Amino acid sequence: MLTAEIRRRFLAHFENAGHAVVPSAPLLFDDPNLLFVNAGMVPFKPYFLGQETPPWPTATSVQKCVRTQDIEEVGKTTRHGTFFQMNGNFSFGDYFKAGAITHAWDLITSSVDDGGLGFDPDSIWVTVLHSDDEARSLWKEIAGLPDERIQSRGLLDNYWHMGVAGPGGPASEIYVDRGPEFGPDGGPVVDEDRFLEIWNLVFMQEEITNVRAKDQFDVLGDLPNKNIDTGMGLERVAYLLQGKGNLYEIDEVYPVIERASEISGRTYGKDHTDDVRFRVVADHVRSG
Ligand code: SER
Repeated sequence: MLTAEIRRRFLAHFENAGHAVVPSAPLLFDDPNLLFVNAGMVPFKPYFLGQETPPWPTATSVQKCVRTQDIEEVGKTTRHGTFFQMNGNFSFGDYFKAGAITHAWDLITSSVDDGGLGFDPDSIWVTVLHSDDEARSLWKEIAGLPDERIQSRGLLDNYWHMGVAGPGGPASEIYVDRGPEFGPDGGPVVDEDRFLEIWNLVFMQEEITNVRAKDQFDVLGDLPNKNIDTGMGLERVAYLLQGKGNLYEIDEVYPVIERASEISGRTYGKDHTDDVRFRVVADHVRSG
């Protein structure tokens, strides 16, 4: 499935469920804590914090993002990048955990003919925060997932915040099992290459402060509403649905490598060092 089609299906799924379709904000956004927009929720932060009234109860977007923490891995692995697009759906005090899980499950497992992404339900694993029994029960009820494919993790993996003071909450991550040829059994707690994360559902319910580390912060109190903030990695889904061996070989990215190959006179796929360079170029120019 083409990347553009995945993007279209994502937005249509949520528009059909009453969400306002909001265009991507520019990468350079007016937030004193951020150099670049690094998540789909950034433009909506004042709504989560209760500083502004949202014009709609729910929204969806495909947001351009840059994250630099893995910059040294770009091109060397099959899945790291700095520039990516995040498909997101957001609820500002409207639906909460049950709604987010229902929407996500429907989109990923509905057949391609029915407008979904057509992932095999048996290939889906999820993680929840260890104390979040409610999310675990909802995954069983709504998706029929067996207990062993719902794994519990601590704050480091399953609590999302912006890395600075702001909104935060427990997260539930959705993974696709690529099969035993990609790594050992045991789910995402054992191997995050074989079990590839595609979607993070954040139950955004607290305001946090004094962030010392990803898993060390103080909770100021509850947000005015219980909100939903989700982020699906568009290029990761494309890479899975296009059966490519590398994120840089999907339809929206590979043309950059082809052009770089024409300009440089070197060939992609012949030499590992050159391949890493090609992927670095493809990653960085897309943010331009
Ligand atoms: N804010 C969460 C993330 O960036 C979900 O969108 O993963």
